[in-house]
Amino acid sequence: MQVSHTGTQIAGEALALLPPDDVIFGRSAAMRSVRDRIERVSQANIPVLIQGESGTGKEIVAKLIHVLSPRREGRFVKVLCPAVPASVFESALLGCEMELFEGTTNPNPGRTDAAEGGTLFLDEIADLHPELQAKLLHLLHDGRVLRIGAPGVTQEMSGGMRVLCATHRSVKREMERGQFRPDLFYRLNAMSIHLPPLRERREDIPVLAEYFLQHYAAKYDRPARPLPAQCLHRLQEYDWPGNIRELENLINGFLVLGCETATLSEWMDRPPGEPLVANSADGFVPLRKIAQHAAREAERKIILQVLEANEGNRKKAARALNLSYRALLYKIKGAGIPAKRVVVPRRGATLSPADCQSS
Ligand SMILES: Nc1ncnc2c1ncn2[C@@H]1O[C@H](COP(=O)(O)OP(=O)(O)OP(=O)(O)O)[C@@H](O)[C@H]1O
Ligand SMILES: [Mg+2]
Repeated sequence: MQVSHTGTQIAGEALALLPPDDVIFGRSAAMRSVRDRIERVSQANIPVLIQGESGTGKEIVAKLIHVLSPRREGRFVKVLCPAVPASVFESALLGCEMELFEGTTNPNPGRTDAAEGGTLFLDEIADLHPELQAKLLHLLHDGRVLRIGAPGVTQEMSGGMRVLCATHRSVKREMERGQFRPDLFYRLNAMSIHLPPLRERREDIPVLAEYFLQHYAAKYDRPARPLPAQCLHRLQEYDWPGNIRELENLINGFLVLGCETATLSEWMDRPPGEPLVANSADGFVPLRKIAQHAAREAERKIILQVLEANEGNRKKAARALNLSYRALLYKIKGAGIPAKRVVVPRRGATLSPADCQSS
């Protein structure tokens, strides 16, 4: 079977449009082997463990396996494991039947009911508490789930669903540390897919950057001009600790702010490979510095998101953030976002490297 997919909407779900497969896989040998594995697993109903650093595309791969599988007409149901409180883990997964009055029940469907005939995606599985790992092990049998049913009703099995899991942690290391049950690992890991970090597939960066550029230009109704070679070169030099998500955020910010206003000019000015937090002379990074950096990054991210939601209008963004206009301008400056108003170049104008110089 060929992985062939050109921006499909996931059947039966209002889920995001997947990028076309030449964008998802790029040209790198590492992603060719991922494509190979996806081809092999998508037709068989076996559990798959998807591993990779944060932002490498684990959820995209899970959705792609679902879209290519015979269960594509069923739903793709995601459970973010660390977000489910331990006390309601079973009922969230399986649902519960509460007896309201004599003889009447109020069936409250769980995530596995929703995934029946489709795919159950257990995200961040390595963060599941060991006690809940034991419960999950007990419930999963060959892609089927043990139902508890109303009190007194005999336990039964569901018809079936594909179980996919993902984690940004190394499950092997978690097992060595005694934090992950090997028996659950072997049940969930009939096949594993490892997604390479972006720094190990630099040749794919231009295709991804171009895709995000077109995608966000269409979203904001802005002209999509090709990135100058110099910018692409710098993008390929950087190490991308946040992987594809970080690249996507950068291009998104670039489109929100307009070309003069800097996200790319910051890149042009930044020495290649410069770490976000510089080490001190003795090799240690002071905790205070990390906290300051994290707070600055979080504030910057929120400001960019609110600017995006308000199409770059700073007055509206200030109102949304409950700040005075002046305070927002001050914060924009502090976050390294130039305080100039967004200037959207004329439609059809080409972006020259000079456009990307610091203002
Ligand atoms: N191969 C790809 N092609 C195009 N876009 C991608 C690709 N992989 C990921 N993305 C985009 O990057 C972002 C992060 O992807 P995703 O959520 O799948 O990563 P993840 O590995 O699950 O991250 P995390 O560990 O942080 O949950 C998403 O917006 C997604 O659309
Ligand atoms: Mg994810």
